[in-house]
Amino acid sequence: MNEQSRENGREPVVPEHVLTDILSGQTALVTGANSGIGKGVALALGAAGANVVVNYVTDPDSAQELAEKISENGVRAMALKADVSREDEVGQMFSRIRKEFGTLHILVNNAGIQDDAPFADMSIEQWNKVIGVNLTGQFLCSRAAVREFRRRGAEPEVSSATGKIICMSSVHQEIPWAGHVNYTASKGGILMMMKTIAQEVAADRIRVNAIAPGAIRTPINRQAWESEDAYERLMTKIPYDRIGETRDVGRMAVWLASDLSDYVTGATMYVDGGMMLYPGFTTGG
Ligand code: BGC
Repeated sequence: MNEQSRENGREPVVPEHVLTDILSGQTALVTGANSGIGKGVALALGAAGANVVVNYVTDPDSAQELAEKISENGVRAMALKADVSREDEVGQMFSRIRKEFGTLHILVNNAGIQDDAPFADMSIEQWNKVIGVNLTGQFLCSRAAVREFRRRGAEPEVSSATGKIICMSSVHQEIPWAGHVNYTASKGGILMMMKTIAQEVAADRIRVNAIAPGAIRTPINRQAWESEDAYERLMTKIPYDRIGETRDVGRMAVWLASDLSDYVTGATMYVDGGMMLYPGFTTGG
């Protein structure tokens, strides 16, 4: 909390999901969905009425558990294993989705990894691995989704868009981050890939957008928020004065996947509590 809110004794309030059935009759694939942001997005899409394919690559139990939890909402959910950086596995995943669900309406390109090193020490394996999952993975899944959307064609009674693609980016598509050059390069690449695909498929009424989260509370970035010291340091970068929760990103995904955002394509929605507002300039400059 900042000085002002501390004096007011105000604790941050994080809204719960308030979602309806705006996605009912649609099937969504969320890659890397069994933990972190992907899990929050999968839960939110399911709560909004979509059938959800929970893609994962490790830890099948958590994927299965999540699929069961989502289906308690009365929608269909299924865990599907595939490494998104591999063309053959992505192809198999899409065939399976077609077989099980008939088609796909929403793709959330969420799978992403970090493998950090100082620039001069970064190995080619570290570079290729992160680019492979974060950027090539989004390319492969987006291509498969666009092919499926075009094959099926428009279904105006289901959605005004023929298909929707949401690319998970990061504030680091814009903010340089020392020690993470493979990750920032992958996220910068996602920005231009997303916009170029959006431009190319807009006439088919396929919408392509990105979400750029800031610091979200997930197991992966635990060191950034777990201790009081780390949390205080993190808050110097977040004007809204709380860490993001996965459901903050989930709500944005629901909006971008729904017809509420029908005229939005090629856009990046920052979900970052103001991290992009240069908080270092709150004073001085
Ligand atoms: C990273 C997080 C980090 C955040 C803000 C995200 O892209 O995955 O670990 O906390 O950016 O720096």
